[in-house]
Amino acid sequence: MLPQLANMIAEETGGDLFSIQTSVDYPADINDVIDYAAEEQDTNARPELTTHIENLEDYDTIFVGYPNWWYDMPMVMYSFFDEYDFSRKTIIPFNSHNGSRFSDTINTI
Ligand SMILES: Cc1cc2nc3c(=O)[nH]c(=O)nc-3n(C[C@H](O)[C@H](O)[C@H](O)COP(=O)(O)O)c2cc1C
Repeated sequence: MLPQLANMIAEETGGDLFSIQTSVDYPADINDVIDYAAEEQDTNARPELTTHIENLEDYDTIFVGYPNWWYDMPMVMYSFFDEYDFSRKTIIPFNSHNGSRFSDTINTI
């Protein structure tokens, strides 16, 4: 779902696409992912980023998308927000979810 949303936004805005990726190999089984994600959250993990924005200075407005995991962002999003200085940038969050909408993630960002 997220990639489709990102593609739609890129088409509408003419923006560039960037994929946040991590070295963490998430379990294939959905139930295992759910447990793994809960543990990442409990331990306040910062999964390693394997993709990096090299030319942040070229952008003023950044749409940042993520799925809702356990009423929060996946912990790799914390790694992402830790990595960059987004001051003076406009961040427009978008997300996918099964009913929890943004939970408190807008405040967190
Ligand atoms: C680990 C995990 C935790 C989730 N927690 C929530 C949640 O708290 N609230 C919610 O509405 N959806 C939750 N979901 C559903 C995801 O938000 C949904 O599967 C995702 O947005 C679908 O997007 P995707 O197809 O890009 O993965 C969770 C999914 C996973 C895998």
